[in-house]
Amino acid sequence: MSTEVESAQKAPTPEVLAEVEREHEEELVTAGDNLEALNRMRSQFFGPKGRITSLLRSVGQLPAEQRREAGARTNQLKQTLEAKLVVRINALESVEKEKELRRSRLDLTLPGRLAHPRGALHPVNRVIEEMVDILTRMGFELATGPEVELDWYNFEALNFPKDHPARDMQDTFFIASPDGKGTLEHVLRTHTSPVQTRELERRGAPLRIIAPGRVYRCDSDATHSPMFHQIEGLWVDEGVSMAHLKGVLTSFINALFGERGVRFRPSFFPFVEPGVEVDVGCVFCGGTGCRVCKHTGWMEILGAGMVHPKVLENCKVDPERYTGFAFGLGIDRVAMQRWGIDDLAHLFRSDVRFLSQL
Ligand code: PHE
Repeated sequence: MSTEVESAQKAPTPEVLAEVEREHEEELVTAGDNLEALNRMRSQFFGPKGRITSLLRSVGQLPAEQRREAGARTNQLKQTLEAKLVVRINALESVEKEKELRRSRLDLTLPGRLAHPRGALHPVNRVIEEMVDILTRMGFELATGPEVELDWYNFEALNFPKDHPARDMQDTFFIASPDGKGTLEHVLRTHTSPVQTRELERRGAPLRIIAPGRVYRCDSDATHSPMFHQIEGLWVDEGVSMAHLKGVLTSFINALFGERGVRFRPSFFPFVEPGVEVDVGCVFCGGTGCRVCKHTGWMEILGAGMVHPKVLENCKVDPERYTGFAFGLGIDRVAMQRWGIDDLAHLFRSDVRFLSQL
């Protein structure tokens, strides 16, 4: 402050101006790249009470004949010095701005605020993936077949003779023939077993395949849907026996449900002999008996059996040389058990509110 008062009293003689210029030069060096110091300098020299401002003001006190020259000198100096300072300040400010911009640059890789919620696999597909995973590790190959199937592969080759009562177990959707003659050669496949006959015929033995997919039956209630999912398994080779069937299915069921016990019961399917139904210890009560397992402690989960020699014959595979076993399992029921779903239809309504709870 004292300098300002002092300089207010000093007249802007060339010596005084030279002095101010030198000081300005020195302070500029001291301030360096310190923007704050530079701004402080700006008001010290050029602010309302600044040194140069005061010098300009003191011009008025000079004798009239000196004023013009002193005023011009002082103004000249003011312009030069202030320009130097401002150039420096502007340069530093733009560097700062640049830094700031770089710091707050838009990151376009960040997810947007209105991003759609991430989707997930349908529970049925999750179960399929898990089953395929277990079975391919056991050496089974993935196979597929058409959903609109020939009666031959779906029934006839599987040893369901025409008009045989075993066909009544599967209420079928028949497809009108394109020629309009009313022949019922095409059906929506009622199970995945036609993949057995198709692949056996096409590729012959030895063969070890699994085939998950959609199947159709004219049936609809809380536990039946006209469309549902099955996975088929088939292993044909020399010397394949019932022991292989039990070993593979026990490992598969244990991997899928955990070790809860497996039970084999005799059953009938026209394309196997002998045929079995396979149960797993109830996943709800653990075997002690509850409403879900109808107090038996067991839940039926799949059909299986040794491939009937007639089926091998129908597919041009020598039944004297080859034997095999097959199994078929409903996928939707496993998904229902896993997530405690009480109505099969929930799985097929595509309601995100339901699916996102799983
Ligand atoms: N295809 C039979 C069904 O849908 C299941 C099955 C498959 C049974 C293979 C035995 C062997 O009921």
